[in-house]
Amino acid sequence: MSSRLDAEYADATPLRVRIDTHEHYSENVNNPTGDVLDALGLSGAEYLADIGCGDARFLADLVATGHRGPLVGIDSSPTMAAAADIIPGVRGVLADATQIPFDDNTFDALSARHMLYHVPDPRAALSEFRRTVKPGGTVAIVVNHPRNCPRTAELVTAHARTYGVEQTGSFRASVDSQSLPPLMSEVFGAVRIHRCDNALVFNSPAPLVRFAEALFAFYGVPVDHPSRADILDDLRGDVQDWFGAHPGESWRDPKGYIVAAADVDPS
Ligand SMILES: C[S@@+](CC[C@H](N)C(=O)[O-])C[C@H]1O[C@@H](n2cnc3c(N)ncnc32)[C@H](O)[C@@H]1O
Repeated sequence: MSSRLDAEYADATPLRVRIDTHEHYSENVNNPTGDVLDALGLSGAEYLADIGCGDARFLADLVATGHRGPLVGIDSSPTMAAAADIIPGVRGVLADATQIPFDDNTFDALSARHMLYHVPDPRAALSEFRRTVKPGGTVAIVVNHPRNCPRTAELVTAHARTYGVEQTGSFRASVDSQSLPPLMSEVFGAVRIHRCDNALVFNSPAPLVRFAEALFAFYGVPVDHPSRADILDDLRGDVQDWFGAHPGESWRDPKGYIVAAADVDPS
């Protein structure tokens, strides 16, 4: 993982803010976790690996809802692997998605939720997923649409730019909802797609500013950037001005994702 991503996922707070924002400020129902569970069709007995497990709430929820099979959370961030490992009934493993330290044909089910776009070689990760999942097992992957939340991304990059933060520091996804299906077909054959088109809608400045700040590290402004506080102040002022100039209007930013699922060929 790059040092920029390392730094971003050393602390689970910005990830939590982004997840909470999508939960509370989406225009339509936003339930990638439910969509992944639908795609996997779990009975509760499966040996399941969640790759790029983040704060491992997905695995904690599986335990809480009675999943009986072994659960593994794999993440390249030590913070996130440790977060999975402290959940009773879950094993946290520090590893990269392209080098999964498990034997061939181990898992019955594998999820990779909102993580594959961070992997520079997503095809290599897909090959690892195929190698480690048993024939007849299922893989479900969530990735965002290209140019997800473009207004907020532009807000952050515009303010960062005024402090000399180069556009090259911007987050570039290695795979998105357009490029994933053909890539998955190459590795797995038939792929099932569930698509969710949505938008974030903010009616006041504070949650938008909080969400924008949680994106800073992706756009070249890590927590220790010397101008971070100034960039945040300017951005907050800009957002407050926008709401002041547009009374009764919402800030709407389009977004969406797909869940792409495939079964490993039993032959
Ligand atoms: C956007 S977060 C998503 C977390 C979680 N899957 C969720 O949906 O809430 C991306 C996660 O992928 C992890 N990650 C990024 N690149 C990775 C890689 N090459 N191998 C394994 N994990 C990776 C990060 O450390 C982070 O925890």
